[in-house]
Amino acid sequence: MNAATEVDLAVAIGGLRLRNPVMPASGTFAEGLERVMDFNRLGAIVTKTITRELRSGNPLPRVVERPGSLINAIGIPSKGVQNFVEHTLPHYAAYDTPLVVSISAPTAEGFASLAAELSLPGVAGIEANISCPNIEEDGKAFAMRPEPTENVTRHLRAATSLPLWIKLTPNTGDMPEVARAAEAAGADAVVVANTILSMAIDLKTFKPCLGNIMGGLSGPAIKPIILRHVFQCAKAVQIPVIACGGIATADDAVEYMLAGATAVQVGTATFVQPAAMTTIIDDLAAFCTHREIARVADLTGAVVIEEADEPDLAWLNPPT
Ligand SMILES: Cc1cc2nc3c(=O)[nH]c(=O)nc-3n(C[C@H](O)[C@H](O)[C@H](O)COP(=O)(O)O)c2cc1C
Repeated sequence: MNAATEVDLAVAIGGLRLRNPVMPASGTFAEGLERVMDFNRLGAIVTKTITRELRSGNPLPRVVERPGSLINAIGIPSKGVQNFVEHTLPHYAAYDTPLVVSISAPTAEGFASLAAELSLPGVAGIEANISCPNIEEDGKAFAMRPEPTENVTRHLRAATSLPLWIKLTPNTGDMPEVARAAEAAGADAVVVANTILSMAIDLKTFKPCLGNIMGGLSGPAIKPIILRHVFQCAKAVQIPVIACGGIATADDAVEYMLAGATAVQVGTATFVQPAAMTTIIDDLAAFCTHREIARVADLTGAVVIEEADEPDLAWLNPPT
């Protein structure tokens, strides 16, 4: 194989076929990026999380950098569903790329009615952000526990026939259990994962760096942690796992796919290098060509683990 075009980059997530496995992470992508990349090259477009009502978001400052990472406490500012339907949706209709709409609501019923309202022509799927650490008190979210995850997913499943992705949180003690709950309630895929709840203190003022005190950690520093979660979740469920956490290069994407991911989302890297996603797509094709891998989908779960090397992770969930 010598030409990148020979590599089949397509992946399937439930009934949704993507031209390649690379898409933005919610909240790190906006219309303005069309100045630096062709959106028709992306596997999918995932919107910033929207809510039914207008939301103003958290107090400033909302972002602080730490080595290899970013902590954000944006808090889902939203122009509301009406603005989305009138302005954002028609804008993306110009592209031949599946549009996945990320949604959030305070209750399971609220999630369901928003999903129903957004099941419109031009919307290819719903990503339910049940994992934002910045809108619930002390970073608690539905995806912290299996029962609320199952309940909200059931409500969503009954409300829309669109592909349904459930975005999980690494802040729970047992992600595979939460992933299984989403699968049992009808999710088509799980996104692993949202940010890691964290904190930073300013040594000049002795005050927290963020107006919200705590925020979500993202960027390259979280990749090994989320990789472990993807590995465990992919073993726990049959539905596709979409990896999200610190992906900045094609090598990162390959690592996640080997661990079991079907597709990947790129977040913080876009702030550093706005065209990161198209570079990752090109380099992924080059990687496959170089390694004589005809279909990128063949990377999924291809990590080689000798039976004797299988780690004993039982201690992570000790019997109570
Ligand atoms: C500034 C910022 C805003 C974000 N907004 C959202 C959001 O609206 N909805 C959501 O589900 N995740 C949001 N996230 C989380 C990302 O989608 C992603 O899960 C996380 O950043 C980890 O990926 P990364 O390390 O590639 O950035 C946001 C992250 C950042 C840094």
